[in-house]
Amino acid sequence: MANSVMMVFGTRPEAIKMAPLARVLREWPEVDLHICSTGQHREMLEQVLTAFGLSVDQDLKVMTQNQTLNGLARDLLGKLDQAYEQVKPDIVLVHGDTTTSFIASLAAFHRHIPIGHVEAGLRTGNLQQPWPEEANRRLTGVIANLHFAPTTKARDNLLREGVPLEQIEVTGNTVIDALLWMREHLTQTAWHPAADSPLHALQTDQRMVLVTGHRRENFGAGFERICLALAELALRYPDVQFVYPVHLNPQVQKAVYGLLSGRGNIHLVAPQDYQHFVWLMNRAHIILTDSGGVQEEAPALGKPVLVLRKVTERPSVLEGGTVKLVGTNTERIVRETGQLLDDPEAYQRMARVFTPFGDGHASEIIAERLSRWLEETAAKRDDA
Ligand code: UD1
Ligand code: UDP
Repeated sequence: MANSVMMVFGTRPEAIKMAPLARVLREWPEVDLHICSTGQHREMLEQVLTAFGLSVDQDLKVMTQNQTLNGLARDLLGKLDQAYEQVKPDIVLVHGDTTTSFIASLAAFHRHIPIGHVEAGLRTGNLQQPWPEEANRRLTGVIANLHFAPTTKARDNLLREGVPLEQIEVTGNTVIDALLWMREHLTQTAWHPAADSPLHALQTDQRMVLVTGHRRENFGAGFERICLALAELALRYPDVQFVYPVHLNPQVQKAVYGLLSGRGNIHLVAPQDYQHFVWLMNRAHIILTDSGGVQEEAPALGKPVLVLRKVTERPSVLEGGTVKLVGTNTERIVRETGQLLDDPEAYQRMARVFTPFGDGHASEIIAERLSRWLEETAAKRDDA
C-alpha cells in the first residue's frame, strides 16, 4: 500500500521551493502525495502554482488582509488539525521558516504525526533577524523527525543543537532545482514578457537594478531608509532603470508607493510570477534584496547581490564574494550600489556564478531519503 505523504505550504517561497519536490514525489508509486495549501498567501501563491502547473488537493484559505501573526497562527492550528484528521498522513513535509511551517509542524506533533523539514538548519543565531522566521525555523527543528539540510553548514548547526546525525540529510536547496528548470524553460521557448506586461517596455540597452524588499523587521524606519537610498540612486543614475516588484503586504505597499511613486526610472510593478521574475533576475545588472530565496538564486545566475539586512542565515552565499550584506543604512546602500555601477572591476569581482546550494537535484535526494525513511518506519511497525 502506498504511504500517505502530506505536503503543507502557504507562502510564495515555500511553494516555489516545494514545487520541484512535489513533481518528483507525484511520480513515485510508493507515495500517495496530498498537497495542502494553507493559503497564508493568496495571489502570490496562485502565481507560483500556475507557473509550475501544480494543483493542490486542499486549500485552507486562511489569508486575511494585514493578518497578524497570532491571528494567522490561531486559524492555521485549527484548520490544520481538521486536515490531519481527514488525511491521516504517515508523514507531513514542511518547508523553511514561515508561520505555516511552524504551525503545521506543531499541529502534526500534537497528533504524533512525524515531520520532515525541508531547508532545515539555517541559523542567524539572532531571534530578531529575520523575525519571526529564525524562531519558526528553530522551533520546527526541535520537533521534526527528518531534517533536509541544504548545506553542510546547516547540518552542523543541527548537530550542535543535538539532532542525531542519522536524522539529517544534506540535500542542496530545491530552489536551485526550481530556478534551473525555469531558466531552461525560458531559454527553450525564447520567452519574453508579453506586450501587456510592464516589463515589456524596459529599455534593453540600459542597465537594470532589480529590487525586492518585504521583511517584517525592516518595516517602518528600515523601509524608509531603503526607499530614500533608491530615490537618491535613481537621481544620481538617470540612465539606470530600477525595477521593484512590490510585495502585496499592505505595510510594504504603503511605504514603497508612498515614497517612490512618480520617478521616471523607478518602475514599481506588481509581484511577478516566477517566469517573469527569473527573466528579471537574468536581465538584471545588480540585485538589491532582503529576500532569503533571492540570495540563493542570484549567485547561481552570476548576479551581484547587495543584501538589505545586517545578518544572513545563509552564510554560504558570502563565501563566493558575490553577495554582500549592506543593511538598511541609506548612505551605505547608495555607496555600495554606486561602486558597482561606477567601477567595472568591483563589478566583475562580484559578477560570478557561485552555487553552494547544489546542482538542481536536491528534490531527488530528498525523495530518496524520504522513501528510505518510509520503508524503515514500515519495517519497525511490522516488527512491533
Ligand atoms: C511571509 C513569511 C516570510 C516570507 C514571506 C514571503 C511569516 C511569518 N512570514 O511574510 O517569512 O519571507 O511570506 O513572501 O510566515 N498578501 C496579499 N496577497 C498575497 C500575499 C500577501 O494580499 O498573496 C498580504 C495580506 O494582506 C497579508 C500580508 O500580505 O495579510 C502579509 O502576509 P504574511 O504571510 O502574513 O506575511 P509576509 O510578510 O508575506
Ligand atoms: N519571487 C517571485 N516574484 C517576485 C519576487 C520574488 O517569483 O516578484 C520569487 C524569488 O525568485 C524567490 C522567492 O520568490 O524564489 C522569494 O520569495 P520572497 O522574497 O517572498 O520570500 P523569502 O525567500 O524572503 O522567504
